[in-house]
Amino acid sequence: MTSLKDLKKPLSKEIKEFQQVFRQSVKSSVPLLDVIMQYVLKAKGKQIRPLIVLYSAALFNGINESTYRAATLIELLHTATLVHDDVVDDSNRRRGRFSINTLWKNKIAVLVGDYLLSRGMLIALQAKDYNTLEIVSEAVKEMSEGELLQIEKARKLDIDESIYYDIIRKKTASLMASCFAAGASSSCNNQEDIKKMWTIGEYAGMAFQIKDDLLDFEKSNITGKPSGIDIKEKKMTLPLIYLLNKSSILEKRKIINIVKRHNTNKEKVNWLISEVLNSGGILYASEKMSEFKASSLGLLREFPASTYRTALEQIIEFTIDRKK
Ligand code: IPE
Ligand code: IPE
Ligand code: MG
Ligand code: MG
Repeated sequence: MTSLKDLKKPLSKEIKEFQQVFRQSVKSSVPLLDVIMQYVLKAKGKQIRPLIVLYSAALFNGINESTYRAATLIELLHTATLVHDDVVDDSNRRRGRFSINTLWKNKIAVLVGDYLLSRGMLIALQAKDYNTLEIVSEAVKEMSEGELLQIEKARKLDIDESIYYDIIRKKTASLMASCFAAGASSSCNNQEDIKKMWTIGEYAGMAFQIKDDLLDFEKSNITGKPSGIDIKEKKMTLPLIYLLNKSSILEKRKIINIVKRHNTNKEKVNWLISEVLNSGGILYASEKMSEFKASSLGLLREFPASTYRTALEQIIEFTIDRKK
């Protein structure tokens, strides 16, 4: 696997430029916002989405000013949804630090998320990047729908494999799709190519979220145990859905009961995790993840070979081999 650091190297100048635009974009004269934005900038994530935007533009006619704006808009939106997601999931950690809602409470986190979203939209709007806006707004709509669908399913716990795919397509794959499409659209006008880039990203995004869900069952470096946070949040992901499908009615009832009523009981959650691990659910989800990855790579390889195409292929490989 190529490391993220190596993947960023060929575009190090461009990434610096992006970071400049990004930093500039979150400046505020409201003191509280400024303090929080400094925190957001310090706790930056992998920045895999802007990297995809840059490489996707490079794949066609090259990176230009509007590419940087698209990369910034998408990373801002991504950050906004994470800030909101931690409120929704009542999650106290993000990117190895305390989440915004933990440090400043929900009220402020909601407004900070809105602020990030509007700053992103304004950057593209002021520059009249209407194509970028259209692509990205579609993703924002889908993400909200995906998060809501997930909440609905967490309440009723009536999720099956096809609904799971529907959720992750909306909440995660749509934004990944918009990275490939917006990057391409910033340097090329061919609608068919842009559409194809969207689909490549959508498949890659499906694999990305399955990986995220698998990481929840992997041993943590710190505790040596799987975190099981998803179960605590009543989130039923593919490995668990697989176990449910294999179980008898009686076993099913027991599992659902744990997710529903004993999701904070460590012993019971650990038992459920070990059931998932023994069921073959991890292998099953890994296979599905590989299938989505293969679909993504297959489509990408219909474009002519180039160093940029290779880089995008490596990023797609990275999405499923990553450790965090
Ligand atoms: C986290 O995305 C949210 C999901 C869609 C699973 P990333 O793993 O890209 O988060 P950061 O930006 O690197 O923190
Ligand atoms: C990630 O969803 C956020 C969105 C895709 C909007 P999750 O809730 O599944 O992911 P993490 O684990 O909090 O990053
Ligand atoms: Mg979450
Ligand atoms: Mg969530």
